[in-house]
Amino acid sequence: MGKLERRSWAEPFKIKVVEPLKITTREERLKAIREAGYNTFLLKSEDVYIDLLTDSGTNAMSDNQWAGMMLGDEAYAGSKNFYHLEENVHKYYGYKYLVPTHQGRGAEHIISKLLIKPGDFVPGNMYFTTTRLHQELAGGTFVDVIIDEAHDSQSLHPFKGNVDLQKLESLIKKVGEKKIPYIAVAATVNMAGGQPISMENIRQVRALTAKHNIKIILDATRAVENAYFIKTREKEYEKKSIAEILKEFCSYSDGATMSGKKDLLVNIGGFLALNDNDVFEEARNMVVVYEGLHTYGGLAGRDMEAMARGLEEAVHEDHIRARIGQIEYVGEKLLSIGVPIVQPVGGHAIFLDAKRFLPHIPQIQFPAQTLAAELYIDSGIRAMERGIVSAGRSKETGDHYYPKLELVRLTFPRRVYTQAHCDVTAESVEAVYELRNKITGLKMVYEPKYLRFFQARFEKM
Ligand code: F0G
Repeated sequence: MGKLERRSWAEPFKIKVVEPLKITTREERLKAIREAGYNTFLLKSEDVYIDLLTDSGTNAMSDNQWAGMMLGDEAYAGSKNFYHLEENVHKYYGYKYLVPTHQGRGAEHIISKLLIKPGDFVPGNMYFTTTRLHQELAGGTFVDVIIDEAHDSQSLHPFKGNVDLQKLESLIKKVGEKKIPYIAVAATVNMAGGQPISMENIRQVRALTAKHNIKIILDATRAVENAYFIKTREKEYEKKSIAEILKEFCSYSDGATMSGKKDLLVNIGGFLALNDNDVFEEARNMVVVYEGLHTYGGLAGRDMEAMARGLEEAVHEDHIRARIGQIEYVGEKLLSIGVPIVQPVGGHAIFLDAKRFLPHIPQIQFPAQTLAAELYIDSGIRAMERGIVSAGRSKETGDHYYPKLELVRLTFPRRVYTQAHCDVTAESVEAVYELRNKITGLKMVYEPKYLRFFQARFEKM
């Protein structure tokens, strides 16, 4: 080995098209964030320098995907791009039937309406905002059955996304299997910090749910990233390909909801995939009401083609290694300067631990919301709150949920930013960290009814 100990992860692509970024002044950013009610969702993208709001729909497509866009078959019915997508979903995820939807929440809407009856319970490995809301709108109650380590930002458990089998079993005992139509299993778990679930755990969940006739509906949005963690952390999978791991993982579930805007490297798209013919028939009928005909589900033919092609690219070993390598690079940088983040570093984002970053700001003054705004003011980098604002209110009591995790997510779009952008990001976080004692909290001055984090407004205390 030479002086540099190991080969770095490097992007397995070169850049063909560039999109200029705008750099603003601090005064301009102060004005912009005030006008946005200290909510990074309400900023204009034009006023953002490095956009780490989300990895959803913000990916860079390949030349192969763009070429596929030109082959869009925009027929109302039976588009050839639908059949290509169906073939690839079957090939890589293994499910028999496909219902395309405009994005993930379209699939969540349909499966929730179809399987949940009022009074039912839906266990899951931590909530996700839109997923839980659709379960609630269908009359269900979400029950968190993730392992305790997931709620602890400092636990180094390698699979913090695992389902706690005892929690699941005691729920089954308490409410009865008939009141649990399915368990919603997410891979990876977004709200826990992009944390994976192990193959061993999903197998155990399958064994337990099979005894009780409970379905498993996988949230496969970032299942490719989950497969990478299985490969690197679960010994028996070290030599298996990402594609093999992905397919085996999905084989333990009965169906999946998918936001193609993440793993699948597109700007729009999603699907519901199923193995049960009866549920499929109903879903295929319902999609016509809410999304579009069952061979396009709210998507243009070209979007389905881009997703079908993205699906193949997503499981390339060098792609996924560089994808997660980039996140790990930023994580190591931040840890080396002592910034509190969720560990281990997850698949799609770095999560700053706002409770430890701003310990003087009580949770009801929205420390994560505050920190995201401060980061924007410092450098124009846009992050997202994942704490008390995102958690919303209990539908029974109307009180805020007070989640243990009060986080700011720095989410990396796939194939978009360079290592120098990563360095600038770490430098900005460091600058805010150095001045953290001077930062004051926020009060909420406008709160929408559903998914309040998207549109809520705040003022400085
Ligand atoms: N499930 C997970 C795990 C997600 O992260 C998302 C979206 C969805 C479902 C819903 O999919 O947006 O296509 O309707 N997450 C985005 C994010 C919005 O920023 O994490 P969608």
